[in-house]
Amino acid sequence: MSRFSDPQDALFRALNSSIAFDRRLAPYDVEQSLAHVRMLAARGIITDGDRAELERGLEAVRAEVETDGLPADAGDEDVHMAIERRVTEIVGPVGGKLHTARSRNDQVATDLALFVRAHALAGREAVLRLMGVLVEVAERHIDWAMPGYTHLQRAQPVYLSHHLLAYFWKLRRDRDRFEFCLVATDELPLGAGALAGVNFDTSRTDVARELGFGAVAENSIDAVSNRDFVLDYLAAAATCATHLSQLGAEIVLWSSEEFGFCEVADAFASGSSMMPQKKNPDAAELLRAKAPRVAAHLVALHGVLHGLPLTYNKDLQEDKEHLFDAVDTLELCLAAATGMIESLAFHRERLASAAADEFLGATDVADLLVRRGVPFRDAHRMVAGLVRHALERGVALSELTDEELEKGAAGYADEVRAIVVGGDWIASKVSRGGTARARVEEQLERAREVLLEGRG
Ligand code: ARG
Repeated sequence: MSRFSDPQDALFRALNSSIAFDRRLAPYDVEQSLAHVRMLAARGIITDGDRAELERGLEAVRAEVETDGLPADAGDEDVHMAIERRVTEIVGPVGGKLHTARSRNDQVATDLALFVRAHALAGREAVLRLMGVLVEVAERHIDWAMPGYTHLQRAQPVYLSHHLLAYFWKLRRDRDRFEFCLVATDELPLGAGALAGVNFDTSRTDVARELGFGAVAENSIDAVSNRDFVLDYLAAAATCATHLSQLGAEIVLWSSEEFGFCEVADAFASGSSMMPQKKNPDAAELLRAKAPRVAAHLVALHGVLHGLPLTYNKDLQEDKEHLFDAVDTLELCLAAATGMIESLAFHRERLASAAADEFLGATDVADLLVRRGVPFRDAHRMVAGLVRHALERGVALSELTDEELEKGAAGYADEVRAIVVGGDWIASKVSRGGTARARVEEQLERAREVLLEGRG
């Protein structure tokens, strides 16, 4: 007997079915089912004989999933039904006991928590690999000068190592966000039943222990409606993808003829179907473009969840494709970024000549006047006047006449010229976290320590 007299409409089935995408939860579903049946037997809810049969069926399904994938059946609505059907085909009617004291509502939340945990770990590892490569590349270019930019206008010179390490620290925060996802997935939903708990004296702590959860969710109503950990993963992924996008955007700019700061390795570039001379930094461009896609998945899930009454609603099935695509996109981007950065070739001369632009020493000239007692605001105005003068005459600061410098810089013409010609504006950035060589060395040292902790 069924509650229904009419069969499902094909259109409803197409809309309602999730097997096409949730089949990738199969390994997690099998893992939780094994823990579940062991607990049921330990609590005397099913017999040891039933447990052994169910374990045999689940192990057989696990082997199928690992080799050819879960055998498909057009009638399966989702991965949970498909696995239960398959277990029943293998072990017979005892397969029907698998769903004792369980609902698909706590089941799917548990699969998802296991999935998010695995990919938060994978994200953290991939981020650490890219951080390691950034440290290596920074070491190789420790004292290569380049212009630093604000508003994409040349601002002050920095070392290339310093610039690359900026991404290291952004990624370290990404690593922390993925680590937080491990906390967010640490409470076991299973045992909450459909929403109210189950009519058996189960041991949720046994299941939690076997599946590696640190605790059980305290409230069954919260447990089946909670998707916070998916939001947490998507938020971490979106921020990380945004960092990769910024990195990609810089490589696109830097590898242009106009900048000429670097060249992407052939292995991460493509040619043009029409213009034989082209070498395009496609990998960097795609890193740049993928971030909004990941961020969109975060926004979309907020859309699904907002205003949703407790507890389980079929809306929640819409969490998966957003999560899966974010995982696939981010993991691919992290791996590709690592390969691209590792194999990037930088052009020392181009970087150095751009960094030698005398106007990049303007702040150092102002600070010289400050040391001679001129208030910073006045010094700023004086140097701005010198820059304007030089620009109007089409000369460099050092090419201004003695009189011009004397008049424009409160009588410190010689010292101003020495600073401008000396070009040593990197060495003067001695504050902690600054670009002076010793400070970058310190920074590298701390970065190496972070890597060691992360690997330890
Ligand atoms: N496929 C469903 C999902 O992904 C599983 C839970 C179904 N529960 C239900 N009461 N229909 O959310």
